[in-house]
This record gives sequence, structure tokens and C-alpha cells, in this order.
Amino acid sequence: MKEWNSFDKITKAKGMWLVDSKGHKMIDAVASMWCNVWGHSNPQLVRTITNQSKKLQHSSMFNITNEPAEQLADSLIKMSPGMHKVFYSDNGSSAMEIAIKIALQYWKNIGEKKTEIATVENGYHGDTFGAMAVGYVPQFFGKFKKQLFQTLQFPVPNNYRLPKGYTLSDYQNECLEKIEKKFSKNNNIAAFVMESGAQVAGGVIIYPKGFQRKISQLCKKYDVLFVLDEIATGFGRLGSMTQYQEQKSIPDIVAYGKMLTGGYLTMAATLANKKVYDSFSGEFNDWKHLFHGHTYTGNPLAASVANENIDMYKKNNLIKKVQKTSKVFEKYYDEISEIDIVGDIRHKGMLMGIELVTDRKKKTPIHPKKSINKIFYEIGKKNGIYLRTLGNIVMLVPPLAISEKELNSLLTRTIKTIQDAKSQVI
Ligand SMILES: Cc1ncc(COP(=O)(O)O)c(C=O)c1O
Repeated sequence: MKEWNSFDKITKAKGMWLVDSKGHKMIDAVASMWCNVWGHSNPQLVRTITNQSKKLQHSSMFNITNEPAEQLADSLIKMSPGMHKVFYSDNGSSAMEIAIKIALQYWKNIGEKKTEIATVENGYHGDTFGAMAVGYVPQFFGKFKKQLFQTLQFPVPNNYRLPKGYTLSDYQNECLEKIEKKFSKNNNIAAFVMESGAQVAGGVIIYPKGFQRKISQLCKKYDVLFVLDEIATGFGRLGSMTQYQEQKSIPDIVAYGKMLTGGYLTMAATLANKKVYDSFSGEFNDWKHLFHGHTYTGNPLAASVANENIDMYKKNNLIKKVQKTSKVFEKYYDEISEIDIVGDIRHKGMLMGIELVTDRKKKTPIHPKKSINKIFYEIGKKNGIYLRTLGNIVMLVPPLAISEKELNSLLTRTIKTIQDAKSQVI
């Protein structure tokens, strides 16, 4: 914290650009924590919030409901094959806590004793305790290890850091075999929890083809609930509305957040299939219902802007547009790889991770005395770009509706920033 003795204040933002109190402009390369879809100050979304605030700004979801939340639940179910009901919360971590509670309680509700949770190494599902437990990233959560409940963790194939002598396909098979071996011996596993399509905060690890699908099949075979986190990767980030459809891996429970409201208000949702939902339905004294609720659950302002956002996805054919615009990243692969501190580039849709190393052969992560994030923030600011790195990885996660021209500009500014930062990070 000593490094950050003062912070720049963002006072306004328009389109892809953030403006601070001194008038500096920065292109928003991380979509304001990976959630912004249409750019800032979008008139349609602003109008929606204003109009809804004149009708109903908030009422609880205890005993009663509201129109925007009901409408949103309908469209979330329509866009999510296999899902049956929606449970609202106001941030991604809570949505995952809810997913875990639903999964564990399901087995109790049907009178079976399954209590363990399986995950993949290096996942990230948020910073609350349950989310930390299922998404253990050692650097983030190490200090709380003793307080976190135990999970069964399985390795993830990472093409850049394969064990010696392995091809990606060998290693993928080995990872899957490990899961099957455990599943076949241990029938106490309640759920398998993983990010859908890629691990984002864990270092932009894009799963090889078939990995997620095979895990979903193993879950079916061994009667384990399959729980997916699409908070960072769904809603078009990786080039499709739901990653689980692209990965052919229908979950029992799935969570959305971040881009759900276009990045305008805070809201998240946990969806469950009929099998899971039905287990919660009983007489009052059966106590099968889920004891979980937040003050702002189903907030009508957030729900109305989410409805407008989803409508805009359809009207603007955003997913097709993302698939086209994201090709701009590919034009820069060579130029980025030529920078000698770049070890690897991982890219899918509107997500790119650039891994920085001091030694390309040994793949040694850069590890300067000052935080890499701070160095990149400051140099980025000079180059007119807002960057936030994760460890030694430069994250590019722009607003989805960014134009090709703006994305070109974002990538050029990123390349200049990596070059300018070189002398400070090695
Ligand atoms: C995959 C994933 N799940 C959950 C979360 C937690 O969401 P929130 O920060 O809204 O609590 C994040 C946040 O980055 C995430 O990337």
C-alpha cells in the first residue's frame, strides 16, 4: 500500500475513455474491471436507469418481487439452455457463494450425503470465504488457508507451462484421468466448480478443446453437480453469449455477473436447472428452502439496465461483432511477441493475457522490486491507456463494443507501454 500513497481520481468517462480530475485521458483497457460492454455514459443505458428510478428504485425480494427482475429472470432462462430458475445477488463473489450453497444443500434436500467440492487449481471465483475456498490462487488467498474449507483440486492444462516431455493433449488426458480416478473412488463429491471457457484472474489459461466438456461428462457419469462460473467469461467476453454452449457442457448451476448490466450497476445471478430447483421445493416445515438473501437482491434499477443491456446485445448483434472485432488482436501477435520480455500471448475473443518473463527459455516470470501493476499503470497513463496487470500478466479486457479503430489504438498503446516498461521490470 505504501506505493499507492495517492490515487488518480476518475471524474468522468465517455465511450472507451476515462478522464481523471487533471484532465488526463486513458483508454479503458480493462473495461473497468472486465464489466463494461458499451463504453461509458451510454445514453440508452443512462436513460433506462433514470426512467426506472422514477418508478421504483428498490424494493426487497422478500415475499414480493418486481417487474424488471421478473423480466430479467425470463430472459436469462431463455438464453441459458438447461436452466430453470434464477437467484439474484449483487456481485460475482456472492453469486458463487450461492452456487456453492445450492450445490451442497441439494444433496441434503434429497437425503444423500455428499459434502466435498472438487475444483481446478488456480481458479478464481471472488474474494469472500467460500469463493476463496473453491478458487484457490495461492498468492491471493494464502494468508487465509487455515480458515478455508478443503476442496479437491485438479490440475489444468496450460500450454505454456506443460510438465517436461508432455504434449498438450497428453497432459490434458492425464488431468482428466486424475479426475475420473478420484470420482470413481470417492462418492462423497457434491460438485465440481470451475470457470467456464478459461481461467481469467488465474492468468488467462484458456482450456484446450474438449477439456470442459469431458469434465461435464464425468460429472454426469459419477453423479456430481457441475457448477460453472461465467461471471468473467460469459456474455460475449470469449466470443459467445454462454461459453458452456460453445464448450458443449451444460451445467447444473451457472453464475453470471460483471457484464450482466453492461457494467452500469452491480448485479449477479445464479441459475439452477429443474432437478436442482425442485429439490428446494417442499412444505414449510421440511426446511428445504435456501436461507440466503441480500438487501439489494433483485434490485429493479440493476435489473432494468440488465434488461436493456440484453436487448442491445440482440439489436446490435453484439456477439457477431465481438467475433469480428476480436480478430484485430491477431494482427498484433507478431509485434507483441517480438518484445523480448514477452514469454506468451494467450487470446480468445475480447480477452488477451500477455505473460512477461525475464528469460524466455526458462520462462522465469518478471519480478521487479516495485509492483508490476504500479509500473504499468503509471507508464500506461503516460501513453493514454488504463492498464491493470495480474502478477506478470498484462491483461487486455476491453469493453465489448469497442470499435476496430479503438482496439487498434489500444493495442498500439499497450505495445508502447510494454516497451517503455522494459527497463523498469527486468
Ligand atoms: C470468474 C470470476 N468469478 C467471480 C468473480 C467475482 O466477482 P465480483 O468481483 O463481482 O465479486 C470474478 C471477479 O473478477 C471472476 O473473474
